Amino acid sequence: GVAFMLTAAIAYLIGAIPFSLLIAKFVRGIDLREQGSGNVGATNVARTMGAKWGVLALFCDATKGMVSVGLIPLLLPVDETLIIHQQVLGAIFAVLGHMFSIWLGMRGGKGVATALGAVVILSPWTTLIAFIAFVIVFVPTKLVSLASMLAAVTYAVTQIVRYQSELFSERLWSLAVFSIGVPCLIIFQHRANVVRLLNGSESKLTLGKKKTA
Ligand code: G3P
Repeated sequence: GVAFMLTAAIAYLIGAIPFSLLIAKFVRGIDLREQGSGNVGATNVARTMGAKWGVLALFCDATKGMVSVGLIPLLLPVDETLIIHQQVLGAIFAVLGHMFSIWLGMRGGKGVATALGAVVILSPWTTLIAFIAFVIVFVPTKLVSLASMLAAVTYAVTQIVRYQSELFSERLWSLAVFSIGVPCLIIFQHRANVVRLLNGSESKLTLGKKKTA
């Protein structure tokens, strides 16, 4: 009851902290929503401010997911059999907070870094598979959006293949909601990227290599 409601509320508020926006604001005095893709995410920090700041933004946004899955349940203990549901609730609400932030007029980022932080703790082996999918797409194409969406699909498919019907059991049903629902949300948040990918105008992320005229 109360522990679950507090878990959701705290995870939402942690997820809603727009670290990427804050880093761009405090370091460069710029509004990230008016730069590059306009997205308040680590990719757009890297694109606008360089790889070093992008890594910091990735780390901060991932920490929101890690804290929501790994720390909140320690502070709000529930029955042992319900811990997995509480962790999943924390993960879902951290991602929702990042995507639909109360501080940004219910707008926000695409949820990739925050979800990454959550799944590193929630399902590390599936995350490794999804990360490999990300690398396989990103290295040749330099398209973070395409790599992120395919990693999200890989995550969902891997969870279904790993757990099969057990994923939809009473013990793990919330994990099923997360494993399928969050990848769907991540892809929905990439809808503008999908349009750009289809018309060939999506920007590549080339790190470390400064363009020489
Ligand atoms: O971090 C989200 C990423 O998949 C795409 O970001 O800025 O290229 O729209 P962006």
